[in-house]
Amino acid sequence: MRRLLPFIFLAGLFALGQSPGAKLYSANCQSCHQATGQGIPGAFPPLTHLDKVVQAKGGREYLIRVVLYGLQGPLTVEGKTYNGVMPPFRQLKDEEVANLLNHVLATFAKSKAKPITAQEVKAQRAKPLSPQEVLKSRPPVK
Ligand code: HEC
Repeated sequence: MRRLLPFIFLAGLFALGQSPGAKLYSANCQSCHQATGQGIPGAFPPLTHLDKVVQAKGGREYLIRVVLYGLQGPLTVEGKTYNGVMPPFRQLKDEEVANLLNHVLATFAKSKAKPITAQEVKAQRAKPLSPQEVLKSRPPVK
């Protein structure tokens, strides 16, 4: 047991050290988009290409809408087509949506875009959309 203690301590530190965005990702997104954001080809799109999306015109707003309102309909990501349904996550707070997207962008998409703020999330929350309308607002990024 004594020899195990340092490991238990380190595991605890690791859990504590996870950023709020990383924790939110494991709890809400990982089951579909996978631990490293690579998705499952044909079923769940990857999140590794999102730097292109966030840098495109309207891309920041689109990413916030996907999380708040979900997404439904055909889209092409990195040459693969998807026609699934992503559920909405309206229950997350503005701050949580911002933390979550910033984690995804920085970690999986290696994006240097300026971080998404809780104010930007609040602005999109004031304009509810259907998951199909969210898809129509996607910037034309393949
Ligand atoms: C139940 C499975 C599921 C969960 C959980 C889920 N997603 Fe999705 N996600 C999908 C599917 C399916 C699509 C594609 C929808 C379509 O085909 O229209 C998608 C699409 C996306 C897209 C659009 C990518 C693009 O290039 O336009 C983003 C961004 C995204 N998800 C982020 C997230 C985040 C962040 C979370 C956690 C809050 C999350 N997803 C949770 C299934 C899921």
